[in-house]
Amino acid sequence: MPKVTGLEGVVAAETNIGLVDGEKGHLVYRGYWAKDLALGYDFEAVAYLLLNGTLPNESELDSFTKALSSNRELPAHVKAIIDLLPAEMEMMSVIRTAISSMGDSFTQWPPTIDQAIRIISILPTIIAYRYHQTANTAFVAPNPSLGHVANYLYMLTGKEPNTAHVRALNAYFILTMEHGMNAGTFAARTIISTQSEIASAISGAVGAMKGPLHGGAPSEVIQMLNEIGDISNAEAWMRDVLSSGGRLMGFGHRVYKTRDPRAVALREVTSHLIGEDPWFNFAFEVENTAIRLLEEYKPGRRLYTNVEFYAAAVLSAVEMPTELFTATFTASRVVGWTSHLLEQVAINRIFRPQSIYTGEMPE
Ligand code: CMC
Repeated sequence: MPKVTGLEGVVAAETNIGLVDGEKGHLVYRGYWAKDLALGYDFEAVAYLLLNGTLPNESELDSFTKALSSNRELPAHVKAIIDLLPAEMEMMSVIRTAISSMGDSFTQWPPTIDQAIRIISILPTIIAYRYHQTANTAFVAPNPSLGHVANYLYMLTGKEPNTAHVRALNAYFILTMEHGMNAGTFAARTIISTQSEIASAISGAVGAMKGPLHGGAPSEVIQMLNEIGDISNAEAWMRDVLSSGGRLMGFGHRVYKTRDPRAVALREVTSHLIGEDPWFNFAFEVENTAIRLLEEYKPGRRLYTNVEFYAAAVLSAVEMPTELFTATFTASRVVGWTSHLLEQVAINRIFRPQSIYTGEMPE
């Protein structure tokens, strides 16, 4: 194994958008605890905070909310491109293609807040459009009278969502919007640092997010929980995976060496909003068994629950189809990405790290 892998511990940028403290389990957005924001604010207010640096006053929130809701329509050519994509192409690749096909409005450098709003607004519509297209059901046009999160659920189901679902998904969106220099954010900042445009930066970030070691884990968590089926099977099932060198999805994190605060907050928020639910109790028991076994098989690695574990629980509770889990994570993380792009261009210097040559020298 090479000595230099994964840029662990390397500082790539200064940021005042978000703090991730892996030892203390802290997550802060622009001076506020992410958990407090998730419990007390709507998506729109926190998206404004990340993009602009301060929470909005009433009129700022009103115009930002209107800007988001008036930017949801997909251009006809993007719909046509999605229609042409093969049915077996999965959602993250469709999002990547749709974003990169958006055209002129996304092709100027430096990126602007209007471009950020457009991308944030349009992502749920891309997901809903493709979802209905592959399900052979009628596309449900965005409803401008609904907030960002409620409208997403509305476009998927065609029904006005219930308040508990909207609040749970709102908390999920807020807790997953931003997370320091994760692979997707680093990819986006690297691309924009070359003075390439926002469409390329976000397409690149979507590509990074798609991988199972980053954003692709929650659907695998559901698969794991489904396969375990009952708590009495959990220990044997996990021992099987761990003894053959496999990984338990939803556990471990490069930065967090304690429980991921997003997992803690999501668990609290959803059990509070959705109430006692046997499925949550099952997930909680599986979590405890996993942590015990990870310490036994991987002593000293400090492997705890990450956000994906309870993200899977929340997304199931709001009846999100499993194939949309990673896409939904993307629809929230795009707020962090665009905030980082605006920050990067304000102090821009191209990312250009070094490598150590370990090959042979010519004679
Ligand atoms: N199950 C079993 N063993 C694990 C796990 C796991 N989930 N995670 C790490 N390990 C072991 C790994 O095998 C290695 O063991 P050894 O020292 O014997 O080789 C050790 O712990 C360190 O692992 P690593 O791969 O060097 O750690 P990393 O910091 O490169 O990887 C990770 C972090 C999240 C990719 C990894 O923990 C993992 O693969 N987890 C499962 C996938 C998952 O849940 N991903 C979602 C991440 S949270 C979303 C986000 O914030 O992006």
